[in-house]
Amino acid sequence: MEFNQPANQPTILIIDDTPEHIETAVVVLRANNFNVRVATKGSIALKLLEQHIPDLILLDIYMPEMDGFEICQLIKSDPKFSSLPIIFLTSLTDEASISKGFTLGAQDYVAKPFNTSELLARVDTHIKLKKQAESLQHANKELDSFCYSVAHDLKSPLLSINKLTEYLAADYAANMDAEGRELISNIREKSQEVVQIIDHLLDLSRMSEIKMSLTAINLNRLFAETYTELVALEPRRDIEFTLAPLPTLQGDVLMLKLLVQNILANALKYTRHQAKATINVTATQTDTEHIVAVQDNGVGFDMRYAARLFNIFQRLHANNEFEGSGVGLAICQKILKRHQGTAWMTGKVNEGATFYFSLKRDDLT
Ligand SMILES: Nc1ncnc2c1ncn2[C@@H]1O[C@H](COP(=O)(O)OP(=O)(O)O)[C@@H](O)[C@H]1O
Ligand SMILES: [Mg+2]
Repeated sequence: MEFNQPANQPTILIIDDTPEHIETAVVVLRANNFNVRVATKGSIALKLLEQHIPDLILLDIYMPEMDGFEICQLIKSDPKFSSLPIIFLTSLTDEASISKGFTLGAQDYVAKPFNTSELLARVDTHIKLKKQAESLQHANKELDSFCYSVAHDLKSPLLSINKLTEYLAADYAANMDAEGRELISNIREKSQEVVQIIDHLLDLSRMSEIKMSLTAINLNRLFAETYTELVALEPRRDIEFTLAPLPTLQGDVLMLKLLVQNILANALKYTRHQAKATINVTATQTDTEHIVAVQDNGVGFDMRYAARLFNIFQRLHANNEFEGSGVGLAICQKILKRHQGTAWMTGKVNEGATFYFSLKRDDLT
C-alpha cells in the first residue's frame, strides 16, 4: 500500500496484518508528517525494504506466514538493515513476547490498542536517536579521513628528512666529531620511529575504509606463516611457539593478516627479555563464537589499565624499554569490529599476557 508521501520526512514501515491497527497508526503518523509504507506480511515487508530503507519499523508479532520475531531476526542479521530501529506492536500483558522482542534486538514496544500520543512519542524518540547515531557515524568517518590525509601528507616530507639525514651521515660523517655523528644517528632513529607511527596510522584508517572481501581463512596457516615471517627478523631468540588446531572461518585475508601480525608482534616484543619465550595459540568455541587466545610469558601488564590498551596511542610500557606506537591494538579492534568480533586482553605484571579475540561461528564454512 502506498500513500501520498511528504518529501524529506522520515519514513515508517508498518508491518501488520490487522487492518484496524494499520488504519489508526497510518492516520496518526500521516497527520504528523511521516511517510508511511505498509506491508501486511513478511514477504512484502522484505520486498519493500529492498526498494527503500525506512527510518523506523513498526512490527506486529502475530502474523500468518512469518511472525514478527522471524522478521525481526532477518532484518537484524542483514548489515544493510541492522541499525534500523524496530518497535514491536504487542499487547501489554504479553510479557514473554516483549522480552523476546528485546532479545532479538528490537528497540522498543508499543501496546495495542494504541495510545496515539504514546505511539508518536516513541516513534519520535527512536527517529531522533537514529539521527544522532548517524551523525556520530558521519563525524567518525570524517575524523578517519582527516587522520588518513594528515598521516598521508606527513609521510613524504618525513621520508625526505630520512633520506637527507642518510646522505648527511654518508657524506659528512668523516668531518664530524663523535657528538655530531651521534646527533645525526639520533635524528635518523627518531624520524624512522615517526615514519613507523605514520604507517600504523595509515593502516588504522585503511581498516575503516577498505572494502572487505570474504574468503575462507585457515587460521592455523595464517598464524604459522605470520609467525615464520616475524621470527625471521629475530633469528637468535629462543622461542617455543605452539599452535593448537584453530578454526577455518570467513574473513578478509588482508585484514586478518594484519590482525595476526599485530598480535604476534606484541607477543614477540613483550617476551623479549625472557631467556626462553613461550607463545601458545589455542581456540575454544561457544554456541555462537570461536574464541582464539594468544598467550605469552612476557612482561605482562597491570590489569587495572586493561581497558585503555585498545585506545589509540595508549601504551603501558615505556618507549625506551619497548619501542612502539600504541596503534597496534586499535588496529586489531577495528579489524575485529568489521568482522563483527571482539577483542580483549588479560595479563599480570611479569607473568605474561593473553590476547583474546572472538568471531561469530556463523562465519563458519
Ligand atoms: N603481549 C603483550 N604483553 C604485555 N603488554 C602488551 C602486550 N600486547 C600489548 N601490550 C600493551 O598494550 C599496549 C598497546 O599495544 P599496541 O597498541 O600494540 O602498541 P605498541 O605495541 O606499539 O606499544 C602496549 O604498549 C603494551 O603496553
Ligand atoms: Mg603493537
